[in-house]
Amino acid sequence: MFVTFEGIDGSGKSTQAALLAAVLRAEGREVVETREPGGTPLGERIRGLLLGDGEIVPFAEAALFAAARAQLVADVIRPALDRGADVVCDRFIDSSLAYQGLARGLGLDAVLELNAPALGSLLPDRTFLLLVPPAESAGRATGRPDRIEREGLAFLERVDRAYRELAAALPARITMLDGGLAPTQLARAIRDELRALA
Ligand code: TYD
Repeated sequence: MFVTFEGIDGSGKSTQAALLAAVLRAEGREVVETREPGGTPLGERIRGLLLGDGEIVPFAEAALFAAARAQLVADVIRPALDRGADVVCDRFIDSSLAYQGLARGLGLDAVLELNAPALGSLLPDRTFLLLVPPAESAGRATGRPDRIEREGLAFLERVDRAYRELAAALPARITMLDGGLAPTQLARAIRDELRALA
């Protein structure tokens, strides 16, 4: 089973990804937890380029995310799924569709085309989109903001709208959840929904 978590920064998706992995492991399943961008040595280097300083044009940004994804799929995700493990990934293709395709304006087709060779036929079995008001999430961020976080509230609002559009267009794969709920309540809802899938 391949499960991904999506949402704007500060939506609580990383917490839910970790909770789900722990629950599945407690049930005796092998779970591989990973994140984008990153998850491989190359991916972590690309992450440094993407989140560091300096301007990156939208196409270059999308191409770097796609390159990190290609390596992660080949080295981590496919081998894990092939041996029957579950994979829980913090961000995946929908981040590129929302951030680069819609919020940056590259277009969904351009981003899909760029990512097709990286994905092949691979898509998540289920994607959980955690929704929180962008103004709240901006306030939750801690530490020095990275290059994408410095885009500010208007950009986060565009990403939030983009995610909602994607989820409305792909209801069979993407489940929207209220990120304001208690973490334990969300974790239970997520596990219940996956049980219904299996
Ligand atoms: P990260 O520190 O991982 O943020 P978070 O903890 O919110 O996941 O930084 C990842 C940033 O990269 C985040 O702002 C979203 C962005 N991103 C894209 O724009 N496109 C992508 O395809 C991916 C995977 C991430």
